[in-house]
Amino acid sequence: MTIQFVDLDAQYQSIKGEIQNAINGILETKDFIHGKSVDAFSKNFAKAQGSKYSVGAANGTSAITVALRALNVQPGDEVITVANSFFATPEAIAEVYAKPVFVDCEADTYSIDVKLIEAKITKKTRAIIPVHLYGNAVDMDALMKIATKHNIPVIEDCAQGHLAAWNGRGAGTFGHMGTFSFYPGKNLGAYGDAGSITVQDEDLYKLVSMHVNHGRTKKYEHDFCAGNFRMDGMQAAILDVKLKYLDGWTKKRQELAAHYEAILKPHGFKTITVRKEAKCVYHIYLVEVSNRDEVMDHFKKMDIHCGVHYPIPLHFQPALKHLEHKKGDFPVTEKASERILSLPMYAELTKGEVEQVCAELIKVAKH
Ligand SMILES: Cc1ncc(COP(=O)(O)O)c(C=O)c1O
Repeated sequence: MTIQFVDLDAQYQSIKGEIQNAINGILETKDFIHGKSVDAFSKNFAKAQGSKYSVGAANGTSAITVALRALNVQPGDEVITVANSFFATPEAIAEVYAKPVFVDCEADTYSIDVKLIEAKITKKTRAIIPVHLYGNAVDMDALMKIATKHNIPVIEDCAQGHLAAWNGRGAGTFGHMGTFSFYPGKNLGAYGDAGSITVQDEDLYKLVSMHVNHGRTKKYEHDFCAGNFRMDGMQAAILDVKLKYLDGWTKKRQELAAHYEAILKPHGFKTITVRKEAKCVYHIYLVEVSNRDEVMDHFKKMDIHCGVHYPIPLHFQPALKHLEHKKGDFPVTEKASERILSLPMYAELTKGEVEQVCAELIKVAKH
């Protein structure tokens, strides 16, 4: 029997009626753009995340670009981020013609090693972008201490961190802005592309709202050229339905992660460390193995779907070769990229399926 990596159909079947009503509602009202559903979802999502405001965006990548633009990051400025993330993080930095400056990740949490940030700060540093990778919250107290000391704005990339928190405070509420992705496979996923930007300051909220919408002040009046990075009404209506279930789905993910942990730890496997202050929402559950190709081949034969997040460290991406990084620049990220394996993880996965995945893993995986 197939064990999927993420099963979008299982989730859809469980809330089908409500989703179809939400879509029909938009078809009836024609609230495709600037509709009430975007406002309603933005308010509800901000509340769920513990943020003052949330601005709907087209996707998680443009949310980061918009945040950088709202901070007026200029060509040639430097933006510090982590070498272990999805490509969109440095891509958005490059999109505003700034330079991504990487920091290695920690060996246990796989998130930005906050201790290494200060050494990377220069006169050109205009922002820091930590990533709450895999849904595991970064130590935002330590990070904000450094950012505040040097007066550098922070944008939290929360694309994988819906409902994640550090010390009880929501991811995306520590820095100037937090950016979220609602890519379909995310913990809170749209039925297409969507994203959002959380903001705490009212003036910045107004500015970000203009940045997603043509720099518009009122109809047909535009203060600056910004482009169109809006969330659409249909996605907002769908997301608002799903948001009600997010807390329950997150708890299921946490239970499944605990089940994986209970089985794999006694066998000596290295999995993701969650600090006691962190609320991890397990967008990804990973394990380290030294013979990943062999394990993946075996999983393929057993029809167990898995993934690697991410096999190429950002500093080795062909698109960023002009940064002239070499092997050994970020050794922890490099080592992890060769060993990490993401196991099936979604709310509808059963404990029995977790046990099956673990049994097959234990048969072939080496530490
Ligand atoms: C860490 C991270 N940042 C940014 C993004 C970009 O989000 P989107 O795919 O919605 O543009 C993603 C999504 O895959 C992500 O995982």
